[in-house]
Amino acid sequence: MTFDVGNCEGADGSAIDWDAQAPDFDEEPDHGLRDPLVRAAWADRLADWLPDEPGDVLDVGCGTGSLSLLAAERGHRVTAVDLSAEMVARARQKLAEHGARVLVGDAARPPVGEHRFDVVLARHVLWMLPDLEATLRHWHSLLRPGGRLILIEGVWGTVSPVGIPATELIRALAPLVPHTHSERLSGDPRLWGRTVEDERYAVVGVTASEG
Ligand SMILES: C[S@@+](CC[C@H](N)C(=O)[O-])C[C@H]1O[C@@H](n2cnc3c(N)ncnc32)[C@H](O)[C@@H]1O
Repeated sequence: MTFDVGNCEGADGSAIDWDAQAPDFDEEPDHGLRDPLVRAAWADRLADWLPDEPGDVLDVGCGTGSLSLLAAERGHRVTAVDLSAEMVARARQKLAEHGARVLVGDAARPPVGEHRFDVVLARHVLWMLPDLEATLRHWHSLLRPGGRLILIEGVWGTVSPVGIPATELIRALAPLVPHTHSERLSGDPRLWGRTVEDERYAVVGVTASEG
């Protein structure tokens, strides 16, 4: 069985048994990035969104760690967090040679102590967390000055759509960051391994630098 966000029945992603999804999760082209063309498409986007200089990246709701791995391969120091122990086990395997920390924990309150990051990265996770504004405020508080939030989200399905429209996410980010950049991702089938009709996008919010 493969999983696509659009297949989930309710508006509450916490109803999904993520441990049960973990063994087959990477079978979706955009999850496992096993197709070199799909992998290259995500690697190219991340090269645009991530800072050029190696930094500390926190991947929240990392799943099996596919985007964490791309960030690590660019030289970033990765901390990855997921609530599902089965996802974390797979992410640890994937990142084993990269010195990444992979932790079991809540994406809304990652267990990172006083550690601060240059990037908080989240793909297809925010839509499941109960308080969008509070979560964004907390992630913002985990960033160093000049750090950035890289948020990849969407709205999936037509009958009972789930997700966050880009306009809503940009509005929620506005009080936190002076600058946001958004990209529509639906139009690039290389990212998904197929043509998609839903709204899919990335928003990058860059925080103010110190001084
Ligand atoms: C759709 S998957 C996305 C995984 C990964 N970000 C990716 O893009 O491949 C959602 C992930 O969020 C995790 N998740 C759901 N609720 C969470 C929470 N409150 N805290 C941490 N992780 C959570 C699930 O276990 C799952 O791995």
